[in-house]
Amino acid sequence: MATRTILQCGHPLLHQPAQPVLAVDAAEVQALAQELVQVCLEAQGVGLAAPQIGVPWQILVVASRPNPRYPTAPTMAPLVMINPEITATAGEPVWGWEGCLSVPNRRGLVARAPWIQVRYLDLQGREMTQEFTDFVARIVQHEYDHLQGRLFLDRRPQRLLSEAEYRAQVLRA
Ligand code: NI
Repeated sequence: MATRTILQCGHPLLHQPAQPVLAVDAAEVQALAQELVQVCLEAQGVGLAAPQIGVPWQILVVASRPNPRYPTAPTMAPLVMINPEITATAGEPVWGWEGCLSVPNRRGLVARAPWIQVRYLDLQGREMTQEFTDFVARIVQHEYDHLQGRLFLDRRPQRLLSEAEYRAQVLRA
Protein backbone atom coordinates (compact mmCIF):
# COMPACT_ATOMS: atom_id res chain seq x y z
CA MET A 1 0.00 0.00 0.00
CA ALA A 2 1.34 3.41 -0.89
CA THR A 3 2.51 5.46 2.04
CA ARG A 4 0.28 8.38 2.81
CA THR A 5 1.61 11.71 3.90
CA ILE A 6 0.01 13.14 7.01
CA LEU A 7 -1.00 16.69 6.20
CA GLN A 8 0.39 19.41 8.41
CA CYS A 9 -1.31 22.39 10.03
CA GLY A 10 -1.89 25.06 7.39
CA HIS A 11 -3.06 22.65 4.67
CA PRO A 12 -6.56 23.77 3.60
CA LEU A 13 -8.09 20.29 4.04
CA LEU A 14 -7.33 20.49 7.77
CA HIS A 15 -9.26 23.72 8.14
CA GLN A 16 -12.52 22.92 6.36
CA PRO A 17 -15.43 20.58 7.19
CA ALA A 18 -15.33 17.05 5.79
CA GLN A 19 -18.22 15.60 3.75
CA PRO A 20 -20.56 12.83 4.94
CA VAL A 21 -19.91 9.36 3.53
CA LEU A 22 -22.84 8.30 1.33
CA ALA A 23 -21.99 4.65 0.66
CA VAL A 24 -20.23 2.92 3.54
CA ASP A 25 -19.86 -0.30 1.54
CA ALA A 26 -18.00 1.40 -1.30
CA ALA A 27 -14.59 -0.22 -1.82
CA GLU A 28 -12.79 3.11 -1.55
CA VAL A 29 -14.44 3.82 1.82
CA GLN A 30 -13.52 0.39 3.18
CA ALA A 31 -9.95 0.74 1.92
CA LEU A 32 -9.65 4.22 3.37
CA ALA A 33 -10.78 2.99 6.77
CA GLN A 34 -8.14 0.26 6.80
CA GLU A 35 -5.53 2.75 5.69
CA LEU A 36 -6.47 5.17 8.47
CA VAL A 37 -5.98 2.45 11.07
CA GLN A 38 -2.65 1.45 9.60
CA VAL A 39 -1.27 4.98 9.29
CA CYS A 40 -2.47 5.83 12.80
CA LEU A 41 -0.71 2.86 14.37
CA GLU A 42 2.47 3.32 12.33
CA ALA A 43 2.69 6.98 13.31
CA GLN A 44 2.14 6.14 16.99
CA GLY A 45 -1.05 8.12 17.09
CA VAL A 46 -4.05 7.25 19.24
CA GLY A 47 -6.48 8.53 16.63
CA LEU A 48 -6.59 9.84 13.09
CA ALA A 49 -9.16 11.50 10.85
CA ALA A 50 -9.47 11.11 7.07
CA PRO A 51 -8.71 14.79 6.26
CA GLN A 52 -5.30 14.29 7.86
CA ILE A 53 -4.37 11.91 5.05
CA GLY A 54 -5.91 14.14 2.42
CA VAL A 55 -9.42 12.74 2.12
CA PRO A 56 -12.25 15.15 3.01
CA TRP A 57 -14.70 12.52 4.25
CA GLN A 58 -16.22 12.05 7.69
CA ILE A 59 -14.25 9.02 8.80
CA LEU A 60 -12.10 8.74 11.91
CA VAL A 61 -10.32 6.04 13.83
CA VAL A 62 -9.80 5.88 17.58
CA ALA A 63 -7.00 3.51 18.50
CA SER A 64 -5.78 4.20 22.00
CA ARG A 65 -2.84 2.14 23.18
CA PRO A 66 0.35 2.88 25.10
CA ASN A 67 3.13 4.04 22.78
CA PRO A 68 6.14 6.37 23.08
CA ARG A 69 3.98 9.40 22.33
CA TYR A 70 1.25 8.41 24.83
CA PRO A 71 2.85 6.08 27.39
CA THR A 72 -0.19 5.90 29.69
CA ALA A 73 -2.94 5.56 27.07
CA PRO A 74 -5.48 2.78 27.69
CA THR A 75 -5.55 -0.14 25.25
CA MET A 76 -8.48 -0.70 22.92
CA ALA A 77 -9.11 -2.31 19.56
CA PRO A 78 -9.02 0.29 16.76
CA LEU A 79 -12.52 1.66 16.24
CA VAL A 80 -13.61 3.23 12.95
CA MET A 81 -16.48 5.73 12.99
CA ILE A 82 -18.19 6.97 9.85
CA ASN A 83 -20.30 10.16 9.86
CA PRO A 84 -19.95 10.48 13.65
CA GLU A 85 -22.07 12.90 15.61
CA ILE A 86 -21.57 13.78 19.26
CA THR A 87 -25.14 13.57 20.54
CA ALA A 88 -24.54 14.35 24.23
CA THR A 89 -21.80 15.48 26.58
CA ALA A 90 -21.71 15.55 30.37
CA GLY A 91 -19.47 16.68 33.17
CA GLU A 92 -17.31 19.70 33.79
CA PRO A 93 -14.66 20.11 31.08
CA VAL A 94 -11.33 18.56 32.08
CA TRP A 95 -7.92 19.92 31.09
CA GLY A 96 -5.68 17.32 29.48
CA TRP A 97 -2.61 17.20 27.24
CA GLU A 98 -3.07 16.60 23.53
CA GLY A 99 -0.81 16.26 20.58
CA CYS A 100 -1.66 15.85 16.93
CA LEU A 101 0.12 14.18 14.03
CA SER A 102 -0.79 17.28 11.98
CA VAL A 103 0.71 19.70 14.53
CA PRO A 104 4.34 18.63 14.84
CA ASN A 105 6.32 19.31 17.98
CA ARG A 106 3.43 20.78 19.96
CA ARG A 107 1.50 19.60 22.98
CA GLY A 108 -1.39 21.62 24.29
CA LEU A 109 -3.45 21.57 27.46
CA VAL A 110 -7.03 21.47 26.19
CA ALA A 111 -10.42 21.34 27.96
CA ARG A 112 -12.74 18.49 26.91
CA ALA A 113 -15.91 16.91 28.23
CA PRO A 114 -15.15 13.80 30.32
CA TRP A 115 -18.22 11.96 29.00
CA ILE A 116 -19.70 11.89 25.53
CA GLN A 117 -22.25 9.92 23.58
CA VAL A 118 -21.57 9.39 19.88
CA ARG A 119 -23.76 8.14 17.08
CA TYR A 120 -21.94 6.82 14.03
CA LEU A 121 -22.00 4.20 11.30
CA ASP A 122 -19.68 1.23 11.65
CA LEU A 123 -17.86 -0.40 8.74
CA GLN A 124 -20.93 -2.53 8.00
CA GLY A 125 -23.08 0.59 7.81
CA ARG A 126 -24.93 -0.15 11.05
CA GLU A 127 -25.98 2.82 13.16
CA MET A 128 -24.20 2.62 16.51
CA THR A 129 -24.58 4.67 19.68
CA GLN A 130 -21.72 4.46 22.12
CA GLU A 131 -20.50 6.28 25.21
CA PHE A 132 -16.90 7.20 25.94
CA THR A 133 -15.17 8.57 29.02
CA ASP A 134 -11.94 10.28 29.99
CA PHE A 135 -8.95 9.83 27.67
CA VAL A 136 -10.83 7.94 24.96
CA ALA A 137 -13.60 10.58 25.06
CA ARG A 138 -10.85 13.16 24.59
CA ILE A 139 -9.52 11.33 21.53
CA VAL A 140 -12.99 11.09 19.99
CA GLN A 141 -13.59 14.82 20.52
CA HIS A 142 -10.18 15.66 19.05
CA GLU A 143 -10.77 13.51 15.94
CA TYR A 144 -14.35 14.73 15.62
CA ASP A 145 -12.97 18.28 15.58
CA HIS A 146 -10.78 17.32 12.62
CA LEU A 147 -13.96 16.45 10.70
CA GLN A 148 -15.27 19.97 11.41
CA GLY A 149 -11.99 21.53 10.22
CA ARG A 150 -10.74 22.29 13.74
CA LEU A 151 -7.38 21.51 15.32
CA PHE A 152 -6.64 21.43 19.05
CA LEU A 153 -4.88 24.76 18.53
CA ASP A 154 -8.35 26.19 17.78
CA ARG A 155 -9.51 25.04 21.25
CA ARG A 156 -7.54 27.74 23.09
CA PRO A 157 -4.96 25.55 24.84
CA GLN A 158 -4.26 26.79 28.35
CA ARG A 159 -0.59 25.86 27.86
CA LEU A 160 1.39 25.01 24.74
CA LEU A 161 4.73 23.18 24.94
CA SER A 162 7.26 21.77 22.51
CA GLU A 163 7.63 17.99 22.52
CA ALA A 164 10.91 18.29 24.46
CA GLU A 165 9.36 20.59 27.07
CA TYR A 166 6.39 18.26 27.37
CA ARG A 167 8.63 15.26 27.98
CA ALA A 168 10.73 17.11 30.53
CA GLN A 169 7.97 18.97 32.37
CA VAL A 170 4.92 16.72 32.12
CA LEU A 171 5.87 13.12 31.38
CA ARG A 172 8.69 13.11 33.95
CA ALA A 173 6.78 15.13 36.52
NI1 NI B 1 -5.13 15.51 15.49
